[in-house]
Amino acid sequence: MSGGGASRVLHGASLAAFVQALPKAELHLHIEGSLEPELLFRLASRNGVRLAYADVESLRAAYDFHDLQSFLTLYYQGAAVLREAVDFHELALDYMARAAADTVRHTEIFFDPQTHTGRGLKLETVMEGLLGGLNEGARRYGVSWALIPCFLRDLSEQEAFDTLELLLPWRQHFKALGLDSAERAHPPSKFQRVFARAADHGLPAVAHAGEEGPPSYITEALDLLKVVRIDHGVRAVEDAAVMQRLAREGVPLTVCPLSNLKLKVFSDLRQHSLRQMLRAGLCCTINSDDPAYFGGYVAENYRAIAEAQDLTREDLLQLARNSFTASFLPSERIAAHLAELDAFAAAN
Ligand code: HPA
Ligand code: ZN
Repeated sequence: MSGGGASRVLHGASLAAFVQALPKAELHLHIEGSLEPELLFRLASRNGVRLAYADVESLRAAYDFHDLQSFLTLYYQGAAVLREAVDFHELALDYMARAAADTVRHTEIFFDPQTHTGRGLKLETVMEGLLGGLNEGARRYGVSWALIPCFLRDLSEQEAFDTLELLLPWRQHFKALGLDSAERAHPPSKFQRVFARAADHGLPAVAHAGEEGPPSYITEALDLLKVVRIDHGVRAVEDAAVMQRLAREGVPLTVCPLSNLKLKVFSDLRQHSLRQMLRAGLCCTINSDDPAYFGGYVAENYRAIAEAQDLTREDLLQLARNSFTASFLPSERIAAHLAELDAFAAAN
């Protein structure tokens, strides 16, 4: 069966089937945010970590956030059950299985070194576990991966410099450096010198900007950190000049609809800025951010935003195309993925 028209809007079961089978890359996923409550409890028990919640149900019930900080508080608590390399291995392998089930062909994964070194773990423990789980996942499921360590922006510039020094011996395993955590009052400019030093080592920059912070943080990330991609960026619509610049320069945005909904960046997915950014020609992608906390992996993010905003079949294909072109993959791998996507479009 062929596509039946470029502007067809899909709904219901046909939409769900289309986005699930759509070949895609995921470019915004925090591995600590893929820690499902079941694994969290299992690791807590194995590692003798006491939890403030009696069971999986009461923990899940606590996933009712009113802003980014209310989420981050629980998210950092949750990460405390990760103690041994094997814990990180299981976490990464579980995510790779879920990604593969959503027809993710390539994934670029954030992790927060300071969340772990700050409670006494060695970076080596984290790296050994993540690399083991990701490599096993790649072998089992045929999903390629890249790793992007992030600095926590609510910590100091000096702590970011210290973390960069710790990371440099592992440089070959990283495709970029990122910036995440509490955005308000922690502008990109705070880390200009750290990202300049990372650039001396050939590490490109990406940064969360314009999630809760103002559009000026997007401009700072571009001008001061020299980012090649903006994570979230959904508040760009509040500034026409920022919108024009993002379109003109083709800066990719890693948009995470269910995250924005759960953290009350938008009150309703119908109010989300994705459609406006797409129509303005911005290079948007769809991602899951912290799927264990926000209630959906990447296909569910495509489905929910498409349903809420009447996205067309062509919009969905464009979002998937963008996910490959905005990745850190070499051009020949991107071309191969786009060819698979074209074949999917011809057949669906
Ligand atoms: N924003 C900032 N920091 C984060 C996020 C996010 O969406 N997820 C995990 N750390
Ligand atoms: Zn994020």
